[in-house]
Amino acid sequence: MTVIKVALLGFGTVGEGLYESINSHQQQLQALLGAEVHIAGVLIQDSEKQRRLAEDVLVTTNFNDILNIPDLQVVFEAIVGEDPSYEYLSKAIERGCDIITANKVMFAKHGEELLRKAREYNVSIGYEATVAGGVPVIRTIAQLLQVNRVEKIQAILNGTSNFILTEMRKNELPFETVLKSAQDLGYAEADPSNDVEGFDAFYKLMILSNLLFGKQPDWHEVKVEGISEISNHQIQSAHQKNERYKHIAEIKKDGDQIIASVGPALTNEDHPLYNIEGVDNAIVIKASLAGTIAIQGPGAGSYPTASAMIEDFAHIFQNKKAAYALT
Ligand SMILES: NC(=O)c1ccc[n+]([C@@H]2O[C@H](COP(=O)([O-])OP(=O)(O)OC[C@H]3O[C@@H](n4cnc5c(N)ncnc54)[C@H](OP(=O)(O)O)[C@@H]3O)[C@@H](O)[C@H]2O)c1
Repeated sequence: MTVIKVALLGFGTVGEGLYESINSHQQQLQALLGAEVHIAGVLIQDSEKQRRLAEDVLVTTNFNDILNIPDLQVVFEAIVGEDPSYEYLSKAIERGCDIITANKVMFAKHGEELLRKAREYNVSIGYEATVAGGVPVIRTIAQLLQVNRVEKIQAILNGTSNFILTEMRKNELPFETVLKSAQDLGYAEADPSNDVEGFDAFYKLMILSNLLFGKQPDWHEVKVEGISEISNHQIQSAHQKNERYKHIAEIKKDGDQIIASVGPALTNEDHPLYNIEGVDNAIVIKASLAGTIAIQGPGAGSYPTASAMIEDFAHIFQNKKAAYALT
């Protein structure tokens, strides 16, 4: 059987989930693609850590070892931060690999450049996992709404913030107490500022902006607010009026201007995001012909994020199969 050789950059929450998911869904992948998917290499940072990996997988801290894997076709990237992932993915494209990334910070800043480069080298980029984990918002917009004009998006893009707001309301607890339990449950990181100060949702919104409008607003002109200043008193007063605070990322176009904002907002029962609770993400898309479409689901976590990356992978290879069939 044909083999598709792939490599993973990063073996943390997402990378390990992806490794397990590719192996546990080998049958489905083979039926779909007519090929076995072989994870040939894994890039990590700390060579001392114990990893559960098959013996035939090359485990390395040197990215050149990954680039030198013969017949490597796909690089999955799940490392943290802008550098060195941008550099690594640029090199992987130059080497002729398709790339699939979960790295929102990097992709918000360098996505356009990577997409341009991918076109130049005739390879594909999958980035579904950068925006809402397992919720297929990128594919919905890119493939299912090709003729519609997307007029506006309102979304809950940070599960940690939504979890904290939900728990504060339901259990009448202050922010710090709920943040601590979010950290204990693994929903929030040791340094939670990206999540609770709104930056995580901002990066995701900027990726959506590129997809929707082919450009981003000036980052300095986007109002970004987190949830750390909302008091329990505010949440309970709203609750008494049947209102809920939601952390909402919003983007729309007004003429040539892109208007984007990220921050807490009061919603009532009629608002489409009012009932989105816990760690879920949700995206409400207002399209010119289809009307209002909402999608909801797990916005982060090991397997939901791996799911988005594997679906990107399957999509890229199905397109290749279709292209071969046409020639
Ligand atoms: N966690 C989620 O639910 C989620 C959801 C969507 C998107 N993402 C994105 O996915 C990416 C990975 O997140 P994660 O939660 O899996 O992070 P994580 O658990 O901290 O894992 C990061 C992995 O990357 C490796 N790594 C970090 N810097 C590296 C470098 N310079 N060179 C080589 N390897 C390096 C680490 O190596 P060691 O193991 O050796 O330390 C680790 O295996 C991030 O960009 C994140 O924003 C995460």
